[in-house]
Amino acid sequence: MTYRELLDISLENRKNSYAPYSKVHVSASLLTEDGEIFNGVNVENSSYGATICAERSAIVSAVSQGYTKFKAIAISSNLEETISPCGICRQFILEFGSDIDVILGDENEEKVYKINELIPNGFLL
Ligand code: THU
Repeated sequence: MTYRELLDISLENRKNSYAPYSKVHVSASLLTEDGEIFNGVNVENSSYGATICAERSAIVSAVSQGYTKFKAIAISSNLEETISPCGICRQFILEFGSDIDVILGDENEEKVYKINELIPNGFLL
């Protein structure tokens, strides 16, 4: 599984985003260390604060099924500019490892960051 392929899976799964309020359709595909993939999308709610982001949705799905070792997460959206994970999602990814790769981009290009670059000196217990 290349990071290009992981980002393509994320792009494909944007169709499952539930975003009737913002119309920002976000998708995240999480690659576990043993090669499993868990997809997540943002799921919005009439009570806006109850919304869950795509990244956390993917991680919650994986952890719920017994996976906690992650290699990478690819994130995409329907916005013209490349989406970058929000602060809460950065913290949520960091929980599972400071060297997780975060792939951002679109159909034409991808950029890879380490989560600890995106949340330097993040909080961990
Ligand atoms: N959103 C995500 O899913 N991930 C992020 O990292 C940033 C924001 C969602 C939340 C909301 O449904 C929509 O994008 C607009 O904020």
